[in-house]
Amino acid sequence: MMSTLLLLSALASLFMGEAKGQSLQAGKCPDPPVQENFDLNKYLGRWYEIEKIPTTFESGRCIQANYTLKENGNIQVINQEIRDDGSLNQIEGEATVPDASEPAKLGVKFSWLMPISPYWVLDTDYENYSVVYSCVSFIQLFHFEYAWILARTPSLPPETVSNLKASLTSYDIAADKMTVTDQANCPNSPQ
Ligand SMILES: *[C@@H]1O[C@H](CO)[C@@H](O)[C@H](O)[C@H]1NC(C)=O
Ligand SMILES: *[C@@H]1O[C@H](CO)[C@@H](O)[C@H](O)[C@H]1NC(C)=O
Repeated sequence: MMSTLLLLSALASLFMGEAKGQSLQAGKCPDPPVQENFDLNKYLGRWYEIEKIPTTFESGRCIQANYTLKENGNIQVINQEIRDDGSLNQIEGEATVPDASEPAKLGVKFSWLMPISPYWVLDTDYENYSVVYSCVSFIQLFHFEYAWILARTPSLPPETVSNLKASLTSYDIAADKMTVTDQANCPNSPQ
């Protein structure tokens, strides 16, 4: 049993590009409520990353995303960050709404060989903040989860952030693992 678990965990690590297992949790994914009456059009545009459960594929600073509607009705996702060496790293993906009856449960894909990852908007007021959750479970035994607090501006009032994290915690999401994204002295911050 243990070796099976280790093998699954190794496969899962490969699958998710996750080597450190920081986001590996026991049990199946929690099923938090998502934003009611989610309005994709109001959600489009630029979002700054304020905090996240760390991923190995985003380690830089000044991380932001820009969502635009494509002609095919899907959403173009452009994520950018400043790497440690100062260079700009930009990655483009596409988001879709797999089930129109659950518009806040998006899926995002950054390359054809990657599986679609969940992108659930748990809570947003469209103008200030957004809370995004992504979780994949493996045969109900364990799950990888990521969460992001995004904002329309490079910072949010600390009490807003702590309220959003408290609600994540109440859904059994590991908000205590979140780290702050450095948004200071970014080249393209609004003045
Ligand atoms: C977002 O991307 C679109 C399409 O590439 C671009 O026209 C727009 O200027 C970008 N917006 C921001 C805020 O970067
Ligand atoms: C966004 O935050 C501002 C400042 O706190 C507030 O006045 C505004 O009502 C908020 N927007 C929404 C949609 O709640």
